[in-house]
Amino acid sequence: MTASISDHLLAWYDTHARVLPWRLPPGSALPEDPAWPYRVWLSEVMLQQTTVAAVKPYFAKFTETWPTVEALAAAREEEVMAAWAGLGYYSRARNLLKCAREVAERGGFPSTEPELRRLPGLGDYTAAAIAAIAFGRHAVVVDANVERVVARLFDIDEPLPGARKAIRAAAGTITPEHRAGDFAQAMMDLGAQVCAARNPRCLMCPLREDCRARAAGEPERLPVKPVKKAVPARRGTAFWITRRDGEEVWLVTRPPGGMLGGMRALPDDGWSAQANGSGEAPLPGQWHDLGAVRHGFTHASLTLEVRAIETGFTPPGEGQWWPVESIEEAGLATLFAKAARLAIAAD
Ligand code: ADE
Repeated sequence: MTASISDHLLAWYDTHARVLPWRLPPGSALPEDPAWPYRVWLSEVMLQQTTVAAVKPYFAKFTETWPTVEALAAAREEEVMAAWAGLGYYSRARNLLKCAREVAERGGFPSTEPELRRLPGLGDYTAAAIAAIAFGRHAVVVDANVERVVARLFDIDEPLPGARKAIRAAAGTITPEHRAGDFAQAMMDLGAQVCAARNPRCLMCPLREDCRARAAGEPERLPVKPVKKAVPARRGTAFWITRRDGEEVWLVTRPPGGMLGGMRALPDDGWSAQANGSGEAPLPGQWHDLGAVRHGFTHASLTLEVRAIETGFTPPGEGQWWPVESIEEAGLATLFAKAARLAIAAD
């Protein structure tokens, strides 16, 4: 019998798997320990739209602070949001806590895709990834890396997102019944390290003989990307309000439900992905313009002006004075961390 695509790939994974903190070595038996699905779930939620390198320190911090799903379920939302600060896509953190509470309540993670899919924040991809990696279930796991590998292997040249159906079906034809977690992660590693978006390293690829796009001569062309829609440009202002000669800065907690809801932040002028800010300052007085920082959100690109004032007054509304020297521990979302760095550099 000739070796199948999954045999080639798994043999390659046995010697080339990346060593990652949420992973077992290739071929390992699945641990009985309930902390195992917890770690897989946590890593998969963190890895959505985020690179392995960016996730590593967050994964370490979370598993040290909250080693089990029960420990995380007992955390306060502010603590979790602050620990997530910098990873982006903050609704993931809110759903993470909701999901932890639901899982702790039901006494552990379910092991099938449909049950996992019903947990807060778990989409098709995450449910399939956890079913395969944490529980060894047969599941077709397709993230952006896998999408690229499969589009090339089968020479699927319909543009995304329309191609997803064909890619998923093709991925299903090569997903083995055994070693489900290893196969899923082998596809991810191949996509990340060999079948790269640019300059794929086809000569090192264990699937080079099977790859139709390589045979056709232009693997790098696939998958065909959709034409990107331009996102609207927004302007806003953040306010760096200090007292005690710049030693303390006024921080607020953003209202739940809105953009970056529940995150600690600098006060601002009410900009959002839909509208520019009013520019209106929260206190009268002699403000200094410090320049601007830029930040890209999914639905808007923001230019955030930063204005500063030293004051003897406490601004209106809820907030707290925070020592500037420990601003790193405030858990500011990346946008406001950039604004804080600008203000501190200007001091
Ligand atoms: N991206 C998403 N999940 C991953 C995993 N388990 N290993 C490596 N990269 C990933």
